[in-house]
Amino acid sequence: MISEPAKRHHDSSAVSVIGLGLMGRALAETFLRAGHATTVWNRTAVKAEPLVAQGATLAGSVDDAVAASPLVVVCLTGYDAVHELLGSLDLNGRVLVNLTSGTSEQARTAAEWATGQGAAYLDGAILAAPQGIGTADAVVLYSGPRAAFDAHEPVLKSLTDATLHLGDDHVLSSLHDAAILGLMWGILNGFLHGAALLGAAGVNATAFAELAKVSIGTVADWVPGYAQQIDDGVYPAPDSTIGTHLAAMEHLVHESEALGVDAGQPRFYKALADRAVAEGREDDGYAALIEQFRKP
Ligand SMILES: NC(=O)c1ccc[n+]([C@@H]2O[C@H](COP(=O)([O-])OP(=O)(O)OC[C@H]3O[C@@H](n4cnc5c(N)ncnc54)[C@H](OP(=O)(O)O)[C@@H]3O)[C@@H](O)[C@H]2O)c1
Repeated sequence: MISEPAKRHHDSSAVSVIGLGLMGRALAETFLRAGHATTVWNRTAVKAEPLVAQGATLAGSVDDAVAASPLVVVCLTGYDAVHELLGSLDLNGRVLVNLTSGTSEQARTAAEWATGQGAAYLDGAILAAPQGIGTADAVVLYSGPRAAFDAHEPVLKSLTDATLHLGDDHVLSSLHDAAILGLMWGILNGFLHGAALLGAAGVNATAFAELAKVSIGTVADWVPGYAQQIDDGVYPAPDSTIGTHLAAMEHLVHESEALGVDAGQPRFYKALADRAVAEGREDDGYAALIEQFRKP
């Protein structure tokens, strides 16, 4: 079904989804499954067909998609595409939720632009693969005016119960997204480095996986205590000192080099610890390395 120009849903839970790539399609499908009147638009219109078959309304233009619903969700490749597509549109009275991934600077610029076009703007970040949308595995972060979030929280919650408003400052969702990506890559690269070391001794990655999982869980349990130390700015070492960690890091560098495994990662850890020791922090706990991250 194609929406007539400027036809509006009077249903306050109606939603328009602009951008029907892998993620946008998952978002639109989930809104539909939850029973929300869903209008869709995509540059390549054919991608809308399965959604229309499920009951979505295909907007005839991006303007019509914006006009159709009080809540407009956009999910494109990048912020440049968002500006290119929506840049000059009248967004008056809309709540625009941008679930495109980007930087905090892009979020701030988009907020200024969308607000100037008359929208209440929420910047968002999706911590899930498309398959996770609509399941307990998905986390979706939002930042921007609380009232705009509150007005549409029930609709947004159909994407996941883990629908978190982080604050009024638009940069918060992209910054949290960046922090979580860094965390994920740190864990994954630690696993891959370990698997490469063990692989050199003929141990396959599957055999390592169970021990790796237990160890990741153990380290995860340390996070709240370290977070408290960081917030307090004091780093006692009831467990082990940076000096002790540094000796183990030296072993890891040596082991990697000896086995022909890339030693860049442990060398980086060691460089942080060396700098901390040079500043007299040898007897502090591990969380004191935060100071090194703060001055690259
Ligand atoms: N996929 C994931 O696992 C995942 C997870 C978290 C976050 N995200 C984020 O979600 C966003 C979308 O990802 P995706 O996986 O859906 O990507 P995708 O499958 O490549 O889809 C990109 C979408 O952007 C549209 N687009 C690109 N440039 C455009 C332009 N200039 N004008 C109009 N439309 C344009 C595409 O339209 P066409 O169909 O016409 O090409 C398509 O709808 C990204 O920011 C991504 O980082 C994705």
